[in-house]
Amino acid sequence: MLYELALGTLENVDNKIASSFRNDFPELNQLSAVDLKPSILPIAASVLKVGNTAPSTISIVHEIQETYQSQQWRQPYQADDFGLDFFNNTAWFPIADVEGPILFSKGLMEIMLLEPNITYPNHKHSPEELYVILAGNVWWQSDNQKACRKFAGEVIHHLPNVIHSIKAGNKPVLILNLWRRGSFEMPVITNA
Ligand SMILES: [Fe+2]
Repeated sequence: MLYELALGTLENVDNKIASSFRNDFPELNQLSAVDLKPSILPIAASVLKVGNTAPSTISIVHEIQETYQSQQWRQPYQADDFGLDFFNNTAWFPIADVEGPILFSKGLMEIMLLEPNITYPNHKHSPEELYVILAGNVWWQSDNQKACRKFAGEVIHHLPNVIHSIKAGNKPVLILNLWRRGSFEMPVITNA
């Protein structure tokens, strides 16, 4: 079950902020679930070709690879937000959100997939955010600081409304994306 594997991943990455996010997500038996209609986007099969995992992330990556065809993949952006390359080469599916599959309104848990070398340009949002790199690696830039590289098993933290961007390495990247104190909203695109 992806929800429990995600909680386990947050425990296993051995990071204080990840532990804090873990504690904001209830145990599975305290939550309800619904079946979401599967929806596949063309890039979804790239989960089978992702970059290196870490010991803390390999279980959830295997589960994503086994279940990707039954997930409700989505592309929340429009083609002209960040361009067609971004639009066609990024995708997400929810694990816990207001509409399921685990029903939860005080936070968001989803999986993000980026194709190789794709940049997710500057944006911001009001919920606080945690990324756990599950497979592959990214260049990450936040708050106009110097870009740094993050690998599978590593954590990226964004305080509310901090501007951030990432660029995928040369293999597809899987990221566990968490928001707390807010369910899904469209991020604000920034040019900063
Ligand atoms: Fe974000």
